[in-house]
Amino acid sequence: MGKNVLVVSGHPRLDDDSVANKAIVEELAKLDGYTIDRLDALYPGFDFDVEAEQAKLVAADVIVLQYPVFWYAMPALLQKWMEDVFLHGFSHGSKGKALVGKSLVVSMTIGAPEEAYGDGAAVRLEDLLIPAKGACALTGMEFAGFEYTCGVSYASRVDDAARERIAGAGREQAARVARLVDSL
Ligand SMILES: Cc1cc2nc3c(=O)[nH]c(=O)nc-3n(C[C@H](O)[C@H](O)[C@H](O)COP(=O)(O)O)c2cc1C
Repeated sequence: MGKNVLVVSGHPRLDDDSVANKAIVEELAKLDGYTIDRLDALYPGFDFDVEAEQAKLVAADVIVLQYPVFWYAMPALLQKWMEDVFLHGFSHGSKGKALVGKSLVVSMTIGAPEEAYGDGAAVRLEDLLIPAKGACALTGMEFAGFEYTCGVSYASRVDDAARERIAGAGREQAARVARLVDSL
């Protein structure tokens, strides 16, 4: 049987000013076994249905966190989803075993060029993964890897050709995410 993949989309404005995340989510939505959890559409006021979100996580074999890096972290929407849904007794604690054995994949888009996260930078690319890796350690999920695209800032969207280049990079990232999930 195929894997049940839950893509949790944390971009706060996917229909508004997103190019990269929009392309990634649209591509992943076409794949068998993938469910897209669009937090911006379901919870514009950040008021989560905790039971519904926990049920989606329980049903998933693989959880993909899909988000743009904002201030070297997840957007507040996705961060608050995690704070509200990953509760003691559900995801961690002596009786919180609901996520044990599931795979977690991080799929990020990043405004700055790759050099900005290279040797000598205050923040390295791997540093961006610390919250996800920490969550895996605490919940018993397996950190299964990550995909990313750098250089997709708003400043780089100078014309339609530039936007199409970013959308194309997003589609390529979606294909890499799908290959990573297939390999698990
Ligand atoms: C509030 C905000 C904070 C951001 N912080 C960062 C950052 O810390 N590092 C970075 O490289 N890019 C940063 N960016 C750029 C975003 O990562 C980039 O716009 C996004 O990945 C593009 O995806 P999209 O086309 O789906 O919106 C930030 C953008 C916004 C709006």
